[in-house]
Formats: sequence, C-alpha cells, structure tokens
Amino acid sequence: MYRIALLSLVVSVFARIISDSCPKVTNVEDFNFDAYGDGVWFEVARYPDAVVKDGKCGILTYKQDGDVKKIKYTFVSNKKLMTIEGNAKLANDAGTTGKLIHSLPYGDIKGTVIDSELNILAIDYDNFFICYYCQFDEAQKNYRESAWVLSRSKTLSEEAKAVVDKYVKDSKFLNDSKFVWLPANDEDCWVEA
Ligand SMILES: *[C@@H]1O[C@H](CO)[C@@H](O)[C@H](O)[C@H]1NC(C)=O
Repeated sequence: MYRIALLSLVVSVFARIISDSCPKVTNVEDFNFDAYGDGVWFEVARYPDAVVKDGKCGILTYKQDGDVKKIKYTFVSNKKLMTIEGNAKLANDAGTTGKLIHSLPYGDIKGTVIDSELNILAIDYDNFFICYYCQFDEAQKNYRESAWVLSRSKTLSEEAKAVVDKYVKDSKFLNDSKFVWLPANDEDCWVEA
C-alpha cells in the first residue's frame, strides 16, 4: 500500500500535460520591473515542484548590481538551507508586460545555467505576485508547468489572499487545487548549524 501511494505521488508531482502547446497566458500590463525586482518576497504557495520538492520557507531576494538584477532564492530542506543564485531580466519581447527571464543554475549548485521564462500574471508590488512557468516539449508533445504565489510578508494578508484566490479561480489555466499553501512557522524554517 505504502509503495503504491508513494508511486502515485511521484507520478502526480512530475505529471506532464499532453497538449499542442503551453496555455496562452496574459502577463500583467505596465509592469514595473524595478518595483518588483527589489527586496524580499516570501514564497507562500506553489505547484508541486521537481526542484524544490518538499522545501519550505522559500525566500526570493532581488538586488540591483550595476546593470544586473541579481536573484537569490533560498529554501529549507531537511533542516538545511539551500541557495540558488542567478540573474533576472525582462524578456526581449516583454514590451510593457511582466515577462521575465530568470537565469539560474538548476540541479546541483555547479549545474549549468538555465534560462527560463517567467510570466508575472498579477502583482500589486506591496503585497503579492502570482507567476507561472511552462515548458513545452516538442518531441513529446506535452508540457511541464509551475506556478507560485509570493508575498512581501511571511503570510499573505486576508485582503491579498482574497485577490489571489479570485485571480486563480477566474484563470483559464491555473488550477487552485494544485497550489500547495506553505507553512510559515519558525519550526519549519529552522536550519541546523
Ligand atoms: C486540478 O488539480 C487537481 C490536483 O492536482 C487534479 O486532480 C485535477 O485533475 C486538476 N484539474 C484540472 C482541470 O486539470
């Protein structure tokens, strides 16, 4: 029984969706990259993610460094602090919308740097943003997707949560039951020295 439960969990976490293309997304208009890309965001919810797995207490920090916007993403996994660092920029075809390229080393820390397109779907700069990632596999004719909700405070205010919930419900491609809402208690964020 235990094995079967485990297997089905793995399958659902890495589920790929059969399709001709990624869903059509509409990124936020009049995107203010400087207001977004400055300071700290706390990860409050996400789709199950193959990289972070059961990681908790995700913190995304942006910092301008000359011409470059640096990203630092940390999370706690098995009482260890994991860190992924890279750069963020607007996509060439972003126009005035919130379409970003994150260049991050995935896999092990010395892994190759992968550019991924990150779509900022909704943001109010002071409280929350919702973002979405989708990678289409030409050969397999399917895609892998991810979505996150980040917050300026460790927990979302009720007002911001209501805005996020409504956005997700109204969305044609986001699935509210896929979001895992993450705990924000100190115990989960504790790191072994
Ligand atoms: C939404 O997500 C849940 C949980 O992963 C899944 O069971 C359900 O099939 C999904 N619904 C759609 C329409 O994809």
